[in-house]
Amino acid sequence: MTNSSRVLKYGMVGGGDVSSVGELHRNALRLNGDAELVAGVFSHDLEKSRRTGAELGVDASRIYASADEMAEREAAREDGIDFVDISTPNAYHYAASKAFLELGIHVACEKPLCLTPEEGVDLEEVAARTGALFCLMHTFTGHAMSREARALYEDGVIGELRTVVVEYPQDWLVDALEKETEETKTWRSIPALSGRGAAIGDIGSHMENWVHYVTGLGIHSVLANLEALGSGTMLDNNFQVITKFENGASGFFWGSQVAVGYDNAFKVMLLGEKGSLEFWQENNNYLVLRLRDQPMQVLSRGSAYSRPESLKYLRTPKGHPEGLTEAFANIYSAFADAIRDRRDGTVKPEQEYGYPTLAMGVAGVRFFNACVDSQEAGNAWVEL
Ligand SMILES: NC(=O)c1ccc[n+]([C@@H]2O[C@H](COP(=O)([O-])OP(=O)(O)OC[C@H]3O[C@@H](n4cnc5c(N)ncnc54)[C@H](O)[C@@H]3O)[C@@H](O)[C@H]2O)c1
Repeated sequence: MTNSSRVLKYGMVGGGDVSSVGELHRNALRLNGDAELVAGVFSHDLEKSRRTGAELGVDASRIYASADEMAEREAAREDGIDFVDISTPNAYHYAASKAFLELGIHVACEKPLCLTPEEGVDLEEVAARTGALFCLMHTFTGHAMSREARALYEDGVIGELRTVVVEYPQDWLVDALEKETEETKTWRSIPALSGRGAAIGDIGSHMENWVHYVTGLGIHSVLANLEALGSGTMLDNNFQVITKFENGASGFFWGSQVAVGYDNAFKVMLLGEKGSLEFWQENNNYLVLRLRDQPMQVLSRGSAYSRPESLKYLRTPKGHPEGLTEAFANIYSAFADAIRDRRDGTVKPEQEYGYPTLAMGVAGVRFFNACVDSQEAGNAWVEL
């Protein structure tokens, strides 16, 4: 039986006790109020998973030992989940997503999509065959002013992209990545769990995705320098990438997870033929627009001049800041619309809903793997 209620049912894979994103996801879904948590594999350790499930009020009979078991048993239930939220370390995204997509259960998955382009292409094939929807949780695309930037770019306000500068310094992994030892290292430093890159996959994928999401432009080729600063780390924690986009535009990306004193300073400068846009996630209720021979404009979220694409997700009046939880919630809100439409027989292309898609995820995985190829080839240009 299909769930005909407006309130969707969801399950989680990952997002348990030590998770940095699990509670953020749940809070975002609580904020929307249109999805109820009813099942989970919150950890690979069943006892821990049961404890988390009990704390979250999930019925014990719907705590499972693995994603495969959850997919099968939930698909067989009359009141089974409408979608699954996957918040595990990177290596498990592929197999878990595939298990649910194969059975027609919609998937919201953390980034990066998976470890290799081949895995990503396989997921696209499965989703196309079963018709299941896929939402990639690239958080920064959920900020209202990212939506505003996308609408402005699509309207040609700054003209076609000529060059872009993206910087993403943070320092929360100084100890984890720079001072780690074989004993203390986490999944982020283990290629089998993180992917062939650490920072480049973790935050480089956000950088590629935001530019792709706002401009619609994919990257054609990269020249990357990946570094492991400090003595301990096994994989990159600091990188510079020069990019060439499909339309010939250039880009420069710098990311670091050991940039001491920086919190989470994701900033983009999109420079077009007629003007430029600047988005800074730490001040994400504003967007700076510079047009030729005009004074610099600071656009506020929720203003009379705001585009419908950003006003649609207005939760608080302008000047009352929104943040990360609202960004996650905006992405889920669009995904829930797509799920309800699909259930009600309305078929629209997924990109029209405004959440990051599976195809964008594949582009992101190609991007960070090409960066590692470039580094391994002695900082050579590599096509995606
Ligand atoms: N969108 C964002 O802004 C953002 C921010 C941080 C992390 N992430 C992504 O979220 C994912 C998780 O990162 P994190 O920092 O929360 O990791 P974490 O190590 O803090 O938490 C991982 C969680 O997954 C559980 N888990 C591990 N293996 C599992 C398995 N096989 N089955 C079920 N559960 C399992 C762990 O018990 C834990 O609860 C990563 O892919 C990361 O890239 C995204």
